[in-house]
Amino acid sequence: MSVRNILLVISLILSVVIGAAIARGKGGGAEQSADHGTKKIKIGLSLDTLKEARWQGDRDRFVAKAKSLGAEVLVQSASGNDADQMTQCQSLIANRVDVLVIVPHDGRLMAKAVEEAHKEGIPVIAYDRLITGVDLDLYVTFDNVEVGRQQARFLVEKMGGKGTIVRVLGAPTDNNAKLFKQGQDEILDPLIKSGAITIAHEDWAEDWSPINAKKIVTAAITKGVAFQGLLASADGVAGGAIQALTEEKLTGIIVTGQDAELAACQKIVDGSQTMTIYKPLHLLANGAAEMAVKLAQGRPVVATATVNNGTVDVPSVLYRVLTVHKDNLCETVIADGFQPFEEVYRSVPESQRPLKPTVVKP
Ligand code: BGC
Repeated sequence: MSVRNILLVISLILSVVIGAAIARGKGGGAEQSADHGTKKIKIGLSLDTLKEARWQGDRDRFVAKAKSLGAEVLVQSASGNDADQMTQCQSLIANRVDVLVIVPHDGRLMAKAVEEAHKEGIPVIAYDRLITGVDLDLYVTFDNVEVGRQQARFLVEKMGGKGTIVRVLGAPTDNNAKLFKQGQDEILDPLIKSGAITIAHEDWAEDWSPINAKKIVTAAITKGVAFQGLLASADGVAGGAIQALTEEKLTGIIVTGQDAELAACQKIVDGSQTMTIYKPLHLLANGAAEMAVKLAQGRPVVATATVNNGTVDVPSVLYRVLTVHKDNLCETVIADGFQPFEEVYRSVPESQRPLKPTVVKP
């Protein structure tokens, strides 16, 4: 048997083992109820925020998929307020949802919501962002460390392997922000050690807020150090960072992002942002909705990895991510039906636009 085949068999065995482990989870869902088979599955979806375009996309796709599977979704958004998110989770639990899906604002604080759900026999899925310090049932996300690697790799390559960077990290309450940093550091650390790259200034953007990101970049500019790269961890904070650059009339700086939001794709076309990361939300949202329904029914879910959350190795599913820049916008986000061609190239006269690709809606 080739090494590849051996690895495949091992990963298959692992998947089955993890899948079985989830099936033994808190359960108690629709299938075990008295009206087995007839009861409509109720999913509680608790979101940190809907202020960023990405989370509206997650919600819409998740709800549509769950509906297509015959489930009902009760959606709550906490607008970045921890106390509100806790109350909303409690009300979803009181509403006797069969499974609770949480995008935590604060991954550590939401452990309490998981504990309360478990007391009522409700399994919990952490969606996109990990909930730490608790016995969690499932974590469905993207490869977040790889997001950070791709951002830093792209930036360093565009800078010709050397120069000065300003870094805008994400919200310190979001475990993902730490994972993005971890991936970025993997690429940057050796270059910083060798003296090729310098980080002139960096800070965490509280709540992933563009206003806070703008403040961080303004502080960097005030220091008076020239920089060629702006390592922004997501499109929202990149937007704030770019505003600071524009106000200070700084041009030619390479700016990273993440989420392939429409505004970011338009900035990539006009040159004020250089790259973003495409996270195919349909994979995450559809996958999570399918798994939520299975968990609610007490059926096994096949996880393909585990992620340690400080308390347990959480059965997890990690989806792939892709670097997007001006030369592959068409073949990635546009061809995938993630962003509309006409909107992305809105600022470009029709005669100067690239050829519109065939769009294959997933
Ligand atoms: C998500 C990113 C998003 C950021 C800000 C992170 O947890 O993974 O996609 O841009 O939060 O909302």
